Amino acid sequence: RTDRTFTMLKPDSVEKGHIGAIIEKITSAGFRVVAMKLTQMTTADAKEFYAIHKERPFFGELVEYMTRGPIVAAILEKENAVEDFRTLIGATNPEDAAEGTIRKLYAASIGENAVHGSDSDENAAIEGAFHFAGREMF
Ligand code: CMP
Repeated sequence: RTDRTFTMLKPDSVEKGHIGAIIEKITSAGFRVVAMKLTQMTTADAKEFYAIHKERPFFGELVEYMTRGPIVAAILEKENAVEDFRTLIGATNPEDAAEGTIRKLYAASIGENAVHGSDSDENAAIEGAFHFAGREMF
C-alpha cells in the first residue's frame, strides 16, 4: 500500500480563506485525498492531540489557537507521503521555510503556521485515527 500522512489546515488558514489554494498545492504535488472534513477541535481534543508538547511554554497558546475555529482535517496518500509532505509544507517557522512551500506562502508565524504534517508513519496512523472513523477513509 502507498504511504499515508495526516494533515490539518489550521484555523488561521480557514479564517483567511486559504483552504482552496492549499488543497490545490497538495493535490498538484501528487497527494491523493483519502479522507477530508471541516471540523473543530475541543480543548480536550487539542490537549490530547498535542500531549507531547504539554510541558512546552507555548502549550496553552497552541491549544487556544487550534480550538478557536474550524480546521480542515485530511488523510493523504502518496509514495513517501510523510517526508514529501513535510518538504511541501516547509519548516515550522515560516521565516525558515523554503520559497514556494505552504508555510512560506500562507503561515504568519511559528505559532500560527497554517498547516500540520505528521512527523512519522506511526504518528500519521495515530493522528488519522484520532480524527476519522474507518468508514470515512476512502
Ligand atoms: P506543528 O509542528 O504542526 O506542531 C506543534 C505546534 O506548536 C507547531 O506546529 C506550532 O503551531 C506550535 N509551536 C511550535 N513552536 C512554537 C513556539 N516557539 N511558539 C509558539 N508555538 C509554537
